[in-house]
Amino acid sequence: MKVLIIGGAGFIGYHLAKKYLDNNHHVEIIDNFSRASKDSEIIHLSKNPNCKINNLDLINKKIKLSNNFDIIYNLAAIVGVKNVNKSPELVLKNNYLILLKSLEIAEKQKSLKKFFFMSTSEIYAGTLEYFGLNFPTKENTPITISNIFNKRTTYMLSKIHGEVHCINKKNLPYIIVRPHNIYGPRMGYAHVIPELIKKIEKGSKPILIKSSNHSRTFCYIDDAIDILYKVSKSKYTKIIFNLGSDDKCIQILSLAKKISKILNKKIELIKSTNEIGSPFKRIPDIGFIKKNFKTKFVKIDEGLLKTYNWYRKKL
Ligand SMILES: NC(=O)c1ccc[n+]([C@@H]2O[C@H](COP(=O)([O-])OP(=O)(O)OC[C@H]3O[C@@H](n4cnc5c(N)ncnc54)[C@H](O)[C@@H]3O)[C@@H](O)[C@H]2O)c1
Repeated sequence: MKVLIIGGAGFIGYHLAKKYLDNNHHVEIIDNFSRASKDSEIIHLSKNPNCKINNLDLINKKIKLSNNFDIIYNLAAIVGVKNVNKSPELVLKNNYLILLKSLEIAEKQKSLKKFFFMSTSEIYAGTLEYFGLNFPTKENTPITISNIFNKRTTYMLSKIHGEVHCINKKNLPYIIVRPHNIYGPRMGYAHVIPELIKKIEKGSKPILIKSSNHSRTFCYIDDAIDILYKVSKSKYTKIIFNLGSDDKCIQILSLAKKISKILNKKIELIKSTNEIGSPFKRIPDIGFIKKNFKTKFVKIDEGLLKTYNWYRKKL
């Protein structure tokens, strides 16, 4: 297969590219490295003769691509709570333009089999805030927009718009993915798990834990990639599915305690304020995955250890 990964040097993109390359497929990446780093992992990928990396901004640069991709992933977006709160207008603008360009590329393909659009679990946040949400949350849950005066709402809005755009794009073999807290090696530091690893590893002073009573269901990156890979080879198109695991949902404070236990550091953890707009709970219904693709998942303790073993060498 020939696979194009837009935003392919980032967290999910890198692991995805590696999976296809390890299985002897051809991979082309587009990334402007606004968030991804040009680290040894990316350099290693670039040396693979089946891999081509285009270091460019999808919005601002013209790009000549071949027209025989089987699979396209659109992973590029402005993401991360800090980035979103800093540039909410850019989130709306860039995430829209990135999707538009990705769809233009998709349109030019001779026999595209699947177009993956990475949405987010955050799109359930408004329903949770105003109407209550059933857990585990099914994909057909009615969607509600969160408070439009919160900057963070721009992110969910850009993803809802993206989903609806894909659904209404003529002849697009779309797969809409709603990832739920994917974690693992090489995810940068702007996520709760690596942030806690870094603070606990380096720290001697008490650590403030934001949104400490909020809970999440985490999914280890290898499981997420395995599922995406299997879906890309499956008969399915024109679907929406939650990407996540069936692991137990844990509170952020318990997560911090688990990490300090793994790092063998006795450090005081102090409950702090909640992040504005942060949903208090996320549990995906993963019936679609379990029925078709996978029933065993990496448990949080094992996944945290694997993640730490990778970060340990970088800190
Ligand atoms: N990681 C998760 O748990 C999670 C959860 C929900 C949704 N998602 C979605 O999945 C997708 C991938 O997430 P990730 O964690 O790998 O993010 P990431 O930030 O690591 O990867 C996105 C990549 O896109 C690149 N990019 C951004 N703008 C670009 C542009 N204009 N041109 C070219 N490249 C550009 C960035 O440099 C980055 O490498 C995102 O769309 C995100 O919204 C991820």
